[in-house]
Amino acid sequence: MVDASVNYGFCNLVLCYYLDLPLSPCPMPKLKDKSALITGGARGIGAAIAKSFVAEGAAVIIADVDVEEGKALASTLGAAFFKLDVSSEADWERVALAHPAIDIVVNNAGITGFEDSPGPHDPEHASLKEWHRVHAVNLDGTFLGCRYAIKAMRAKGAGSIINISSRSGIVGIPGAAAYASSKAAIRNHTKSVALYCAQQGLNIRCNSIHPAAILTPMWEALIGDGPDKEVRKARMVADTPLKRFGTVEEVAAIALMLASDDAAYMTGSEVHLDGGLLAGSSASPGD
Ligand SMILES: NC(=O)c1ccc[n+]([C@@H]2O[C@H](COP(=O)([O-])OP(=O)(O)OC[C@H]3O[C@@H](n4cnc5c(N)ncnc54)[C@H](O)[C@@H]3O)[C@@H](O)[C@H]2O)c1
Repeated sequence: MVDASVNYGFCNLVLCYYLDLPLSPCPMPKLKDKSALITGGARGIGAAIAKSFVAEGAAVIIADVDVEEGKALASTLGAAFFKLDVSSEADWERVALAHPAIDIVVNNAGITGFEDSPGPHDPEHASLKEWHRVHAVNLDGTFLGCRYAIKAMRAKGAGSIINISSRSGIVGIPGAAAYASSKAAIRNHTKSVALYCAQQGLNIRCNSIHPAAILTPMWEALIGDGPDKEVRKARMVADTPLKRFGTVEEVAAIALMLASDDAAYMTGSEVHLDGGLLAGSSASPGD
């Protein structure tokens, strides 16, 4: 029997009729009527998050320095594009003017430092200029993104801020000291934002995601091509208990959970997405 007050979905209704199956209601899209801004959304993890949010009914704004890729993805998804350098306060002021209210902000844009400079990036030889550049994008960008989000969520008194940190924000990375330091600071700032919003009586949640090796264009460049590509890939994840890279869709699934009401009681939390890497230590004696 069909209950007129329930959304079954047209295709679902037709399928159930012809296949003689019991009727089940259509699940509601998890981000229906929500707006979401995703920094660094033109490619990689940010692009996967944009796709999954659109699929769940959100109005998505892809914010990136890469205008060409960002606009192309936005038009494929039916999303909006905004040119934003996350380290620029003036750019964030333009975002605030264009989008004074928002429900979800994902601070995802990030750099390792290796994109423009081969290094060294270790604590003894890294230049102060490189150190500042990595912190400007990763940490200043996240600080400015959180500040914008709180103001843009205040009117409704609710929202979700998701900061993409890293496994490198939990452990030391001798060869990428600035990257690790910036990601560790994002982890801590997430908790300050969460507590501040709670103190203010706002239902604005702020959580961080800590991925380990996720196969994105960032890694493709490091892995390179050639017949031994798969061997090199396997070597890179040899210490990961699950023995593989994570996928961008796996990160997007956690971001979706944190953005939605499924995570209504989560704030100031950190989610590790690392194939078991942080569960133990390869330095442990014995197996
Ligand atoms: N891929 C991984 O293994 C991995 C692991 C842990 C954490 N992360 C983090 O996830 C996030 C996304 O990583 P990814 O692998 O998708 O990277 P990516 O390099 O594939 O994509 C990064 C995106 O950010 C944009 N961007 C760079 N600088 C920007 C700026 N100043 N302002 C606005 N946009 C900017 C780029 O144009 C690009 O679209 C980063 O914060 C990264 O540190 C990635």
